[in-house]
Amino acid sequence: MSKIELIITNNYEEMSQKTADIFIDLLKKKPNSILGLATGSTPIGLYKILIEKNKSKIISFKDVITYNLDEYCDIPKSHEQSYFTFMNQNLFDHIDINKDNTHLPQGEGDSKINSENYDKELNKVKIDIQLLGIGSNGHIGFNEPGTDFDLGVHEVLLTENTIKDNARFFENDINKVPKKAITMGIKNILSAETIILIANGKNKANAIKNIMKGVADKNVPASALNLHKGKVYVIVDKDAASLL
Ligand code: F6R
Repeated sequence: MSKIELIITNNYEEMSQKTADIFIDLLKKKPNSILGLATGSTPIGLYKILIEKNKSKIISFKDVITYNLDEYCDIPKSHEQSYFTFMNQNLFDHIDINKDNTHLPQGEGDSKINSENYDKELNKVKIDIQLLGIGSNGHIGFNEPGTDFDLGVHEVLLTENTIKDNARFFENDINKVPKKAITMGIKNILSAETIILIANGKNKANAIKNIMKGVADKNVPASALNLHKGKVYVIVDKDAASLL
């Protein structure tokens, strides 16, 4: 069983800074790190700090390789809400990374083949730090409650809860939210050396409480972090910690 290191911060800015400090440390020690990255609103503050530190030459991404957790199916890469677009706009366009070294699952085309290909790629590497956000229902990546912990990369049907949560990015219209996605499975996530899960806001408090019970429960996908053999950090603001 992994002992999760819980770090409770005062606010979103501090949560982002604490997380950035761990990434900065790693990149200084290991400039050719392999990073597992996430999208969503939670990591934006972290990415801003990493961009700033890159611009001031404190860290470089020249030799860094990245793998993202997930991507929507059935919208083109060029869609303004694709995770490909998100990563470019919020991080890759602003740092010295070689874009050939950035990887996301392929959302367009045959999901089964795309999933198998991404899984094969991931199995060839060891991710140094896997960053995770968390859904209000405890999902990580797009591994929704009930997902088998043994699954590798796979296609998922988004739950109603996640479609509703994500409608804010699609003009608040649930009909515009893609219904399918490709995601790393829990198995892929757990094979990273270190995992950092970040969360802010009251709507994440119940999910955080469920992780910190210390038991891996299929109904709370993020609780699988309790099974991780390496280091796990859960870095939250006061609101996300309010039910602990
Ligand atoms: C994104 C991802 C999702 C989000 C989660 C939280 O790549 O895998 O699991 O981390 O839905 O999203 P936000 O940060 O927008 O609350």
